[in-house]
Amino acid sequence: MLKIAHRGAKAYEPENTLQAFQKALDLNSDGIELDVHLSADGHIIVIHDETIDKMTNGKGAVNSFSLKELKCFSTAEGHQIPTLKEVFDLVNKKCFINIELKSAAALTKVVSLIDEYVSEKNWKYEHFIVSSFDWNALLEVHNLDSKIPIGVLTETDLNLALAFAETIKAKAIHPYYHLLNQENVQEMQQKGFLVLPWTVNIEEDIQKIKSYNVNGIISDFPDKI
Ligand code: G3P
Ligand code: CA
Repeated sequence: MLKIAHRGAKAYEPENTLQAFQKALDLNSDGIELDVHLSADGHIIVIHDETIDKMTNGKGAVNSFSLKELKCFSTAEGHQIPTLKEVFDLVNKKCFINIELKSAAALTKVVSLIDEYVSEKNWKYEHFIVSSFDWNALLEVHNLDSKIPIGVLTETDLNLALAFAETIKAKAIHPYYHLLNQENVQEMQQKGFLVLPWTVNIEEDIQKIKSYNVNGIISDFPDKI
């Protein structure tokens, strides 16, 4: 059962910060999940929302600031917004990284960065899963480099996700956990996919989802899994 720390260990540190990812490593997570957007000058920025309003003392769209400008803002705890490269270097192969594309604009850069770490820094493709609710973006990732493991995110339609996962030979399906039951988990696994539901935080839900024998759970509390 893979323990995947949602936005880092979001329950314990500000989400999507280096501190949250370090906490996830300290809790022996098997993987971390994070969200990416692009800055105005083309850097891959790790942040959930399209704007910096919720997480920092600034206001405005992530893609309206350069990296240098984004680094001037901070969270209430004084943490900066990290780049994807900074997260890769912190994690340094200690667990796998589930990169959720929030903006399709970031996909080409994400593929290039993964390819750079695989070809020059001895990382394996297995250290990554690229996921998105934007399936066109996933198709483009697959077309750019078919070796990059893909996770098909769905909040509503498991059958459609399963069909799409087969089309692009995805590694995993990432369903909203309320869609799951014993039978559909088994069906996805029999077709060769890992089942990695999100975002399961309540003890009772964790126990129920575990009883379906999913392959892993994305949670703000990786230690509860
Ligand atoms: O990757 C699963 C989950 O993170 C999707 O929802 O809003 O937390 O990015 P959200
Ligand atoms: Ca996410």
